Amino acid sequence: MERKIIVTGDNSKTLLIPDLDETYHSKHGALNEARHVFIRHGLAEIKKEQVNIFELGFGTGLNLLVTMEYLSNHPIQVNYSSIEKYPLPFSIIKEMGYDELIDSSFSKTYLDAHESAWEEEVALTEQLTLLKQEGDIKSALMENSKFDLILFDAFGPRVQPDLWSVDILFKMYSSLKLDGRLVTYCAQGQFKRNLKAAGFKVYNVPGPPGKREMTIGLK
Ligand SMILES: C[S@@+](CC[C@H](N)C(=O)[O-])C[C@H]1O[C@@H](n2cnc3c(N)ncnc32)[C@H](O)[C@@H]1O
Repeated sequence: MERKIIVTGDNSKTLLIPDLDETYHSKHGALNEARHVFIRHGLAEIKKEQVNIFELGFGTGLNLLVTMEYLSNHPIQVNYSSIEKYPLPFSIIKEMGYDELIDSSFSKTYLDAHESAWEEEVALTEQLTLLKQEGDIKSALMENSKFDLILFDAFGPRVQPDLWSVDILFKMYSSLKLDGRLVTYCAQGQFKRNLKAAGFKVYNVPGPPGKREMTIGLK
């Protein structure tokens, strides 16, 4: 699959898949989007000292990077699990430059996260463990009532409608604890109806710059 590195509206880079005309992040600003959707409306809303996160689509690891940034001034513990069907080569990760995007104090941990073994929980720092699994969310087995927060970061429904289906969303719902939260950049009507059908209470809040709305699903 061909991927091109492009610069987004806040100067952070993202990847474009020309064949699908789809990017990994918002063209208006990859870093702003990750902070807004997954931290401000995600992790920052979970009032717990230990938080279990599940991410759909590890990709560039940008959401893990903004999680590290959050942890640097919040004394909580995060267990971060992520699944990825198409792991990126390390050469692309280096070229993206996310290791120096926020602060060089995150470089080592961010690069360690990419170089760490798959299918094994590793302690990246005292506050953060990481479990990366290579596989397809459609066939992945997930434990019930395990996660406090799901970062739902698949490619958009235009490209991957099957990942925004009631089936997958019900899998997400089952894997959340009561009071758990799913956040995503997407605000498509059919997706929100599917979230409701899967059992979620659905809320919209303003999206990051350039996007009118984003979606929160609560269990
Ligand atoms: C919108 S990108 C976001 C990736 C990542 N969160 C980031 O910030 O770079 C979507 C990711 O989902 C992955 N993906 C696509 N289909 C998948 C599937 N069926 N199971 C697991 N991951 C999948 C893609 O390879 C890609 O890395």
